[in-house]
Amino acid sequence: MNINNKDSKRIIIALDFPDAESTRKLLRELDPAQCRVKIGKELFTRCGPSLVEEVVKSGFDLFLDLKFHDIPNTVGKAVAAAANLGVWMTNVHAAGGRDMMIAAKAAVDDAQHKPLLIAVTVLTSMSQTDLLDIGITMPPQEQVMRLARLAGQCGMDGVVCSAAETQMLRVSMGGDFVLVTPGIRPAGDAPNDQKRIVTPVDAIRAGSSYLVIGRPVTQAAKPGDKLNEIFMQLHGSFPDLC
Ligand code: C5P
Repeated sequence: MNINNKDSKRIIIALDFPDAESTRKLLRELDPAQCRVKIGKELFTRCGPSLVEEVVKSGFDLFLDLKFHDIPNTVGKAVAAAANLGVWMTNVHAAGGRDMMIAAKAAVDDAQHKPLLIAVTVLTSMSQTDLLDIGITMPPQEQVMRLARLAGQCGMDGVVCSAAETQMLRVSMGGDFVLVTPGIRPAGDAPNDQKRIVTPVDAIRAGSSYLVIGRPVTQAAKPGDKLNEIFMQLHGSFPDLC
């Protein structure tokens, strides 16, 4: 069980909305002392850095989930720009390679405000066949391990991983490596399009540092109440968590 993570605020709400107004409406229901939030490619592409700054200014720790993947110089500059927006965490694709991750890490080191920097290993949407199509003959879990080790060597703070990979990564990468896990569903909730889901309690128990939760909260009739229900479930097993 990973409780070495001293951070008690483990939930990241995915702000998967098409516009700023729906985003603001949800944020009014959330407490920045209790949870963090994530902005991904859709909302960022629609609303841009000004919304990121607005959310950061309103007190939320923000994970800017843009999964940068490009030549080292470009990714370094993109990470520097993300750091400049005041985000709490941002990410790159580990498949961009050693030099790219080192450039990303150097950008964080040089920044005044230093976000956590994590890597995506193998997208959970990729099957073994998909990997073969792009020339990767290793089983997905081995590829995940390989890229997680490389990410660690390049100074990444952690990786995004599926619930199925959490335990293996926690054991091999140690207690301080940040593991961010999507595909979380409170007991009894609909899986939506997620194939392998785990409950918040099981994800923390397997070693996850942060849980990304989207639709169970964002589509709930009362998002604040739904989040409280999740906190209650977590408190039952982990009284120290928010
Ligand atoms: O609504 P739901 O809880 O399924 O949202 C999960 C969030 O995590 C979405 O923003 C999705 O893009 C992201 N994500 C994921 N699976 C991954 C990586 C990211 O669901 N492997």
